Amino acid sequence: MNIVWYQESVTKEERRKKNKHHSFVLWFTGLSGSGKSTLANAVAKTLFEQNIQCYVLDGDNVRHGLNSDLGFSAEDRTENIRRIGEVAKLFVDSGQIVLTAFISPFRQDRQLVRSKLEQDEFIEIYVHCPLETCEQRDPKGLYKKARNGEIRDFTGIDSPYEPPLSPELVVDTDQYSIEQCVQQIISYLKNKQWI
Ligand code: PPS
Repeated sequence: MNIVWYQESVTKEERRKKNKHHSFVLWFTGLSGSGKSTLANAVAKTLFEQNIQCYVLDGDNVRHGLNSDLGFSAEDRTENIRRIGEVAKLFVDSGQIVLTAFISPFRQDRQLVRSKLEQDEFIEIYVHCPLETCEQRDPKGLYKKARNGEIRDFTGIDSPYEPPLSPELVVDTDQYSIEQCVQQIISYLKNKQWI
């Protein structure tokens, strides 16, 4: 109510032209320990070295600040992803490539973010890795705690993960190395002539 959209003086298209690349979201989704953050950061490093404007938004980091008021109930996860979606959209408007590494377990939440962006601005990347492998990796010891009942509502244990039905990309970190997965993503972006 009583709020009017103010049109920015520099447009998204002008920013993209200056940056010499498209701006969009690479939305990594997958179980804890599947490799989302590692992969997003590795792709960002490759892009950065090619003078591409990019930034990583990571679950653990964002929950330290912007979303420090949110926990892991279904409602809080939905709000977490809604806020991240809004932030990601701002990055896209600013002409950058934003890489998001959140479990984002619910299809409907990811769909909401997709719906707020243009068709070629939301690239869903399913970081596929079987639960057993994620649990063996257990880099933060969280699966062990979840199995012991020290953490409740842990994704894959007592909280659901809904895999994407038609993601733009599936990377399999159980079968392929991080370098191979990075190359798969970079090749996709080059084929689209977005970078
Ligand atoms: S979500 O579901 O998208 O809102 O989660 P996200 O913001 O990505 O945060 C996931 C990281 O939080 C840690 N953590 C948990 N994950 C899942 N379930 C529970 N209950 C939980 N508690 C803490 C965990 O380190 C996740 O990081 P990743 O990088 O996925 O391992």
